[in-house]
Amino acid sequence: PKSPTDAAPGLRFEPIAPQTTDSVVIPNGYEQDVVIRWGDPLFSDAPGFDALAQTAAAQQRQFGYNNDYLGVLEIAKGQYLLLVNHEYTDEYIMFPAYDPQNPTREQVEIAWAAHGLSVVAVTGDPKGGALEPVIDHQLNRRIHTSTEFELTGPAAGHPLLQTSADATGTKVLGTLNNCSGGITPWGTWLTAEENFNQYFANANTVTDPTTAARLARYGISGGESERKWERYDSRFDLSVEPNEVNRFGWIVEVDPQDPTSTPKKRTALGRFKHEAANVRVGANGRVAAYLGDDERFDYLYKYVSDGAVDTSGTVAARANNATLLDQGTLYVARFTGNSPASEITGTGALPSDGAFDGTGEWIKLASGSTSYVAGMTAEEVYLFTRQAADAVGATKMDRPEDVEPSPNTGKVYVALTNNSKRTTADEANPRTSNKHGHVLELTETAGDVAAETFFWDLLLVCGDPNDPGTYFAGFDKSQVSPISCPDNVAFDRFGNLWIATDGNALGAHDGLYGVAVEGKYRGQVRQFLSVPNGAETCGPVVTKERVFVNVQHPGETDDATFENPTSNWPDGGSSVPRPSVVTVWRSGKNGQIGQ
Ligand code: FEO
Ligand code: CA
Ligand code: CA
Ligand code: CA
Repeated sequence: PKSPTDAAPGLRFEPIAPQTTDSVVIPNGYEQDVVIRWGDPLFSDAPGFDALAQTAAAQQRQFGYNNDYLGVLEIAKGQYLLLVNHEYTDEYIMFPAYDPQNPTREQVEIAWAAHGLSVVAVTGDPKGGALEPVIDHQLNRRIHTSTEFELTGPAAGHPLLQTSADATGTKVLGTLNNCSGGITPWGTWLTAEENFNQYFANANTVTDPTTAARLARYGISGGESERKWERYDSRFDLSVEPNEVNRFGWIVEVDPQDPTSTPKKRTALGRFKHEAANVRVGANGRVAAYLGDDERFDYLYKYVSDGAVDTSGTVAARANNATLLDQGTLYVARFTGNSPASEITGTGALPSDGAFDGTGEWIKLASGSTSYVAGMTAEEVYLFTRQAADAVGATKMDRPEDVEPSPNTGKVYVALTNNSKRTTADEANPRTSNKHGHVLELTETAGDVAAETFFWDLLLVCGDPNDPGTYFAGFDKSQVSPISCPDNVAFDRFGNLWIATDGNALGAHDGLYGVAVEGKYRGQVRQFLSVPNGAETCGPVVTKERVFVNVQHPGETDDATFENPTSNWPDGGSSVPRPSVVTVWRSGKNGQIGQ
């Protein structure tokens, strides 16, 4: 029995039960609207979506595929700018009669256009309700695989970033596999290049052992790539263009207020399978960006700027802030538990002190042109950050996904989504064969974003609350929703943590959950929403009046085809599934989320 009102402010809704329906399910008393869908035009020169008449030219002017990160900026009363990542494409359910062995040039070019980013203005009642895209808004923008980016910071121009098309090592076309991200306190958008390895072919032709080891550490292997883009653009063929791959795997900074600006790939934040980047400003104005590398047994990172942020909004402030992510120090985390190793059994059973907790260190990797890693130059540290972190003894984590500091307390929350391959538990990753994941809470020493030490504890050890190997911060487990595979996180205005899941291993669909992290309701997980067949819940944003989610990859199941889809959301009937942005609000006038 979960009372709608016996909950923290902001989480006072009737939690939904786990679902398996091909729809977005929300609490009683709430309403929903699909804001924008794959293929909807951003500009009046683009046609409306027609699954049977797709072209690359249209897709370059339409909303892209598989929206993951969502940022929402209020630009006027009742007008919002959506900042959206289009992580990847699902050709087998996008295209009629798709032959994975022989993709056509047009299909490949549509996929290039469906990757990347969208900036789109939407409008509606500021007190809640449906939202409509503003076609041709002056800030609307599509960024895709042919858009020019600039590499900046200490590794920019390095010989390993130079290609036959770009002798400067600073100009790249496109951004790939952009997963999550964040909005900076100075108004820019950070977007994270994640599983870029899958786009590059013919790593098996590389004979130089140093290069081969670098490729292997980033999961770049084999001959043909799955999408076979190398047939239509040789920059995706490592046997032709060995350095192109080094130009992906970065955090990208975009100025959404200037649709003509060139997005920047910030090399000072290192190169790995970046999940996201979220920034906190310290007492002295220096900023920290928290960064996860989403791979089993990979690491948690932090970047701390040398300079201080200037939020005065002047031209000089913009110039100052544009250097914050180029000049600073990159660290990786080592976690040490405070309970005897013998008490960490791998089942999730708590040790005798009653908590998975301990201390940790931020280990310096590089700062500007200074390397702190034996045998690697600073530029090599930025380019091959995983190998640098391996060398300094960082803690191997259970897939660090989104990492976000609380705007209220400064504590940092790390979603560790799962790790089926873990055989040895440690206190920060306390379950072997970790199917359901956990959420770690990190407290910088003295609350200083530039601290080199921290305390940590686990907020949640996810799963079915009836499973004794789960933990909900000590809250009564009869009063919580089951949760599995935490991925994207966000905070509401009360400081509650909202968690979107990817890969629910409890037999129900993915969803969105709210949990208090302070006070008497700390650990009370409550399910707010569930997504359709085959979908992942992404990009949560929670404002006073609205919850936004990205419904990513509906109908992405092994047995699906374009002709026989396994989801018909959101258009219904026998339609193809379309990744879309959804907004949810409370029925009635002046409704507030969770109040
Ligand atoms: Fe794209 Fe780590 O999720
Ligand atoms: Ca302990
Ligand atoms: Ca993710
Ligand atoms: Ca994910």
